[in-house]
Amino acid sequence: MRVLVVGGGAREHALVEALAASPEHPELFAAPGNPGIARLARTADIPADDLTALRDFARDNGIDLAVVGPEAPLIDGISEAFWEAGVKTFGPTRAAARIEGSKVFAKEVMRHAGVPTAPFEAFDRKAAALAYLRSLTRDGFPVVVKADGIAAGKGVTVARSREEAEGAVRAAFGGAFGAAGERIVIEEHLTGREVSVFALTDGRGSILPFLPAQDYKRALDGDEGPNTGGMGAYSPVGWMEPVTYAAILQEIITPTVHQLALIGTPYTGLLYAGVMVTDEGPKALEFNCRFGDPETQVLLPRFGSDLFELVCACVDDDLAGREIEWSADKAVCVVLASEGYPESSSEGDEISGLDEVRGLAGVNVYHAATREEDGRFYTAGGRVLNVVGTGPSIMEARARAYAAVELIGFRGAHYRTDIALEALEMEDL
Ligand code: AMP
Ligand code: GLY
Repeated sequence: MRVLVVGGGAREHALVEALAASPEHPELFAAPGNPGIARLARTADIPADDLTALRDFARDNGIDLAVVGPEAPLIDGISEAFWEAGVKTFGPTRAAARIEGSKVFAKEVMRHAGVPTAPFEAFDRKAAALAYLRSLTRDGFPVVVKADGIAAGKGVTVARSREEAEGAVRAAFGGAFGAAGERIVIEEHLTGREVSVFALTDGRGSILPFLPAQDYKRALDGDEGPNTGGMGAYSPVGWMEPVTYAAILQEIITPTVHQLALIGTPYTGLLYAGVMVTDEGPKALEFNCRFGDPETQVLLPRFGSDLFELVCACVDDDLAGREIEWSADKAVCVVLASEGYPESSSEGDEISGLDEVRGLAGVNVYHAATREEDGRFYTAGGRVLNVVGTGPSIMEARARAYAAVELIGFRGAHYRTDIALEALEMEDL
């Protein structure tokens, strides 16, 4: 079977590695892939958002199954394009991918399904949004202002005051996020701890949950600094009670999958819920229509099942009755970023140490933004490498990840030093 993985980051590297480990030995392709992926799959230099070129590539190369990593092509309808070309596709249709592509749609689905989430109002006119803000008393703040569409992670503002909220509303309607900001959601601010929960689903509404994972979105230690695409992750999530996890599956994931089917947009693929665990229980912050990055990089190394078999079960509507086996190992991922990230990034710096870490026990290095030339590796973007340590305890997994990080170097390299520190402290108790 010929499988095409769409995307070229560390998440796709982890996906390709897991698919390559299948006893079925699928023949793997990736577009665009990256130098790490190129060791496991044939790569084609096609951007993940060029739907026509990807469909043609899949048809010309006899691809049987596509596994789509990033959200943008799913939101743009790559799933339909592939299925119409006879390629089974792991990833929701354009209509179902609106669960990530439109905050208003996601909130409406949650409202109808009775999913616990922050109360909200949706607006498509600036004047109405500003009038709503004026109607709130001072204790109505903070509020969260969200552009409806995807805005490269920048469309969400936690506004502490009315002035700040008005600024966010004006920015959105003033075109700061392009078409993504033509509608907005204003919602109540929730406090608690965030966690990521993934589940596989098939078109019949069968659901197979993953274990939860913790990611780190801020650039600097102590959750300071600007938001990023993710600076690290760990799994399992020791601070979360099993009963909370059960509630997330029962109150958030399951009703959302069923509601999507009910309104005629059944969901096939991986559904990702970003959840705030509050004093009143878990509440959904957002949904994503794809695997999380970098959470996938700590979940797949703990996978004891055959990802390829499960992906096939999803696209064949045959997920019912299956289970995922998990290894008892823990996993910690540290992201190595290039100089200036996230405000800017630098490229072209030679990376040293990759040979030294290859073959270290309990270490996986996933490429996120690298370039290979004559056997040497160079940085090629903001988040360059993901270093994952696994081991029987968070302490060991973490020590392995950071020991490997220390061996790798490039000009301007930086990373957080506190990934999974809280989990380590809990382990000590
Ligand atoms: P979203 O894209 O909706 O997940 O928002 C991005 C980030 O903004 C989330 O990961 C949270 O950290 C934060 N956020 C979003 N909505 C809320 C909310 N209602 N209360 C508090 N923080 C939020
Ligand atoms: N870990 C955040 C995301 O994948 O969107």
